[in-house]
Amino acid sequence: MIMKFTDDLSEMIVHAQGNELAQLFAHDTTDSGERTYTQPDSKTMHVITFKNPVLVTDNYKINLLTPEHSKETRDQHVFVPNINGISMDPPHSVLRDVVHKLFESPKKTTIYGNTQLEFEQGKFNSVWGPSIDTLLFCNAIRTENIKGNLDHVKRAIEIGPGSGFISKYLLNNLPNLEEMTLIDLNEESTNCARESIDDPRTIFEVGDGLKYLEKRKFDLIVCNPPYIPRMDSSDDNPYEGIRVLEYLIRNTTTHTTPGGIILTNVSSLCEDYAREAIQQTKAYQKITAEYIKSLDVPLKVFNVAFNKKWTEYLKDKHHLIDRYKNGHSFWQTINIAKIQNCE
Ligand SMILES: C[S@@+](CC[C@H](N)C(=O)[O-])C[C@H]1O[C@@H](n2cnc3c(N)ncnc32)[C@H](O)[C@@H]1O
Repeated sequence: MIMKFTDDLSEMIVHAQGNELAQLFAHDTTDSGERTYTQPDSKTMHVITFKNPVLVTDNYKINLLTPEHSKETRDQHVFVPNINGISMDPPHSVLRDVVHKLFESPKKTTIYGNTQLEFEQGKFNSVWGPSIDTLLFCNAIRTENIKGNLDHVKRAIEIGPGSGFISKYLLNNLPNLEEMTLIDLNEESTNCARESIDDPRTIFEVGDGLKYLEKRKFDLIVCNPPYIPRMDSSDDNPYEGIRVLEYLIRNTTTHTTPGGIILTNVSSLCEDYAREAIQQTKAYQKITAEYIKSLDVPLKVFNVAFNKKWTEYLKDKHHLIDRYKNGHSFWQTINIAKIQNCE
């Protein structure tokens, strides 16, 4: 399955690929009429386009592909081309089911601009595939790059690269990049990224990115850090706690070169902490901080969303929005922040 995002993230265009065509979309005979269970990966077919995606897998939007939803509602969220020459208007439960099945495919290729990465679910343990945050980072990098704001970047690091998509995008797009370091706590993540990135400018490391920064400076630090505050936070899983974010803000000039930049995700859930850290840091370091991209997205970390005590805490103290909209109950805003060393 291929998920291609448009430059402005207004559309996610989904294609079925190779064997999926033979197994789900009735392309089960060869040109000479014999039965086949396989098709080459070069064979692809447009299945659905999601408009204004807020998740990479949005079950609500898939479930709109049934007759009980008004055409107006559907047209707002999805576009379905004629598949195998059959128009899906009015829509059909078969289409809904086949799209759900397609999303179960273990191999997914994500494409944004000139960058593509194949991610196989389960091949590398506990590694996060590209998410909507990942794409928003690339969208932000694209905008900064067009303005020439990243022309000075020669040495960059990504802390917590997961699948490696953002680093790959940087390698493919920054005009003067000479060295790209990827460091993740999870060894499997480094293995996963190594498989997708074949570039002599790349350095792969395993370990705590904050320790690695000690005595080092970069022109660009990119980090999509954990961002969900919790009472008595333990910082021992990839989505919880804000230790990494706070450290990066408070040490901007220690770990970036003059003019250097940190690009990080400041969710509305941890915005208060980030604002305070920025204010305090400005008292003794010359830095600027601004949001360069923002997107309202559902909170889809189930271990959090299913934990009543935790969601109540986030609602009371950290701006979690509990209002059913477009098929989702809990909402946050993700902001890509640019923090610049002006010394
Ligand atoms: C939400 S994932 C982001 C993956 C990727 N950057 C993306 O946006 O698609 C966070 C990643 O950060 C890693 N991580 C968390 N804290 C870290 C730390 N202190 N040092 C290095 N990696 C860390 C996790 O192992 C995980 O792979």
